[in-house]
Amino acid sequence: MRGMRFLAACRGEPVDRPPVWVMRQAGRYLPEYLRTREQAGSFLALCRNPELAAEVTLQPVRRFGFDAAIIFSDILLPLSTLGVQFEFPDEGGPRLAAPLAGPQHWERLRTDRDGGDTGLVADAVARVRAALPDEVALIGFCGAPWTLASYLIEGSTSRDYARAKAALLEHPRECSALLALLAEAMAAYLESLVRAGADAVQVFDSWAGTLPAPLYSEYAVPPVASLMHRLADTGVPRILYAGGASHLLPKIAEVPCEVVGVDWRIPLLTAATALPGRAVQGNLDPATLLASPGTVSQATRRMMAEAPSSGWVANLGHGILPDTPVACVQAFIDTVRGRA
Ligand code: CP3
Repeated sequence: MRGMRFLAACRGEPVDRPPVWVMRQAGRYLPEYLRTREQAGSFLALCRNPELAAEVTLQPVRRFGFDAAIIFSDILLPLSTLGVQFEFPDEGGPRLAAPLAGPQHWERLRTDRDGGDTGLVADAVARVRAALPDEVALIGFCGAPWTLASYLIEGSTSRDYARAKAALLEHPRECSALLALLAEAMAAYLESLVRAGADAVQVFDSWAGTLPAPLYSEYAVPPVASLMHRLADTGVPRILYAGGASHLLPKIAEVPCEVVGVDWRIPLLTAATALPGRAVQGNLDPATLLASPGTVSQATRRMMAEAPSSGWVANLGHGILPDTPVACVQAFIDTVRGRA
């Protein structure tokens, strides 16, 4: 059965041991990733090359035997179908060619969806699924409407997301329309990835926690709920990752999905208790993996002591850091699997 341990845990079913994978598991901490990125020329060229994107997706699965692979791409890539242009400079994260600061810019987003990079990602998904062992699940992903809107408005990663939050307050109707448009485009995108072979989908609301609960509830929940609702028909498990969201758990409980990913700010059992009927995913602090392997094992055991007995997918609380030693990733996995 395809992706069995991971998919069973997502549905809260019993498993022989907890499934484990790592957010950003294909990335700069792996020497083989750096070599393939060099071959492609740049990060963006790598994302747009289905053959090489498939190769880097498979690399961490080959090395560590993870229970799930996540397709190598970026949350900004599908925005290309809306006519948004961006680049990834060597340092500092993505940068939009021109930030879409206000409603006058949002009106110009394309809705015909011709062109763009989504077909390339679907192609990579099909290649990975064909090459992946049956027991390993393949995850397709996108950004949540609020997290994507904050990139559109700010033009880059931001310390405080002040402009994006101010836009919500100043232009609530237009912002809701923008968020609904993003939800629609991402639903169509994830549907295409499931058709191409993805066994599960994850929606990254990395910047959920920047919002106070009333704003999150009023503006961010409806579009992400509608996105998830549309994906119900695909039948694959839906994972919502919400960063910094301790204060948002009761609101997150309103979003239809099978799994909620949380970061290290929330004990796993607290999340599981606040989200009855859902599985939880996470949540070791990625900074832990910069310590020694022995310390990583200790911290992993502490995390495991707080994990629910079923409905748990072991992961980090956010993306793995580029300078993480490979031995520390191995210590994390071995400890989850009870071998260290
Ligand atoms: O998990 C995986 O292995 C799949 C690949 C993946 C990437 N980006 C590749 C990437 C995934 C799932 C993402 C999602 C993503 N991208 C998110 C949501 C998850 C999160 O971390 O909160 C966000 C916010 C982005 C936007 C983004 N892309 C940022 C902020 C950065 C720079 C941060 C950094 O680590 O440098 C990127 C670049 C990026 N996306 C890299 C990778 C491997 C590094 C680029 C490189 O290799 O040169």
